[in-house]
Amino acid sequence: SRIVVLISGSGSNLQAIIDASQDKDYPAEVVGVISNKADAYGLTRATNAGIESQALSHKAFESREAYDVALMAQIDNFKPDVIVLAGFMRILTPDFVQHYQGKLLNIHPSLLPKYQGLNTHQRAIDAGDKEHGVSVHFVTEELDGGPVILQAKVPVFAGDTSDDLAARVHEQEHRIYPLVVKWFAQNRLSMQQQVENGQHVEKAIL
Ligand code: GRF
Repeated sequence: SRIVVLISGSGSNLQAIIDASQDKDYPAEVVGVISNKADAYGLTRATNAGIESQALSHKAFESREAYDVALMAQIDNFKPDVIVLAGFMRILTPDFVQHYQGKLLNIHPSLLPKYQGLNTHQRAIDAGDKEHGVSVHFVTEELDGGPVILQAKVPVFAGDTSDDLAARVHEQEHRIYPLVVKWFAQNRLSMQQQVENGQHVEKAIL
């Protein structure tokens, strides 16, 4: 399978997927990396791994819609089977989400449905949570609201700073994201619509 990874920053999850894909038994390879920020360190990681990388700044576009159209064109050039959001700090338009429906994955640093949005580690500390974690989910039009595929939990210790907790969560991110991408590439994972109480809901089927 062909993976395109979208990033905005450090790209440590990108690195984890690149590293996993070096294994001869891994069923997928990263064929392209796109960042909305030209100075994202993840672009350097891609170059170091011999992977094609591109920056597409949102600042050059008049609207979110126009940016997403350009982004889709850039992604589709890579003919991907799966699109992996790894710290891509942009809200996506409904057209974009629909275009990649069922093959768009995201990682979010909380135990969804808790703490959608930003500052998840500090919010978990402030709430006095004893456990926290990370979720990999399919992307739907609802921000951080798509069906969860896999979660990993970490303990929250007394005196933890947001950075302490983020580091503990990151270790788990690097474990579970390559695993979910592998399952997807093995066709063991899909997003399906089901009817629940007369409502259509998306489910992750594993
Ligand atoms: C991760 O914490 C991920 O959960 C969130 O953005 C961060 C990206 O980190 N969506 P990195 O760029 O992969 O190091």
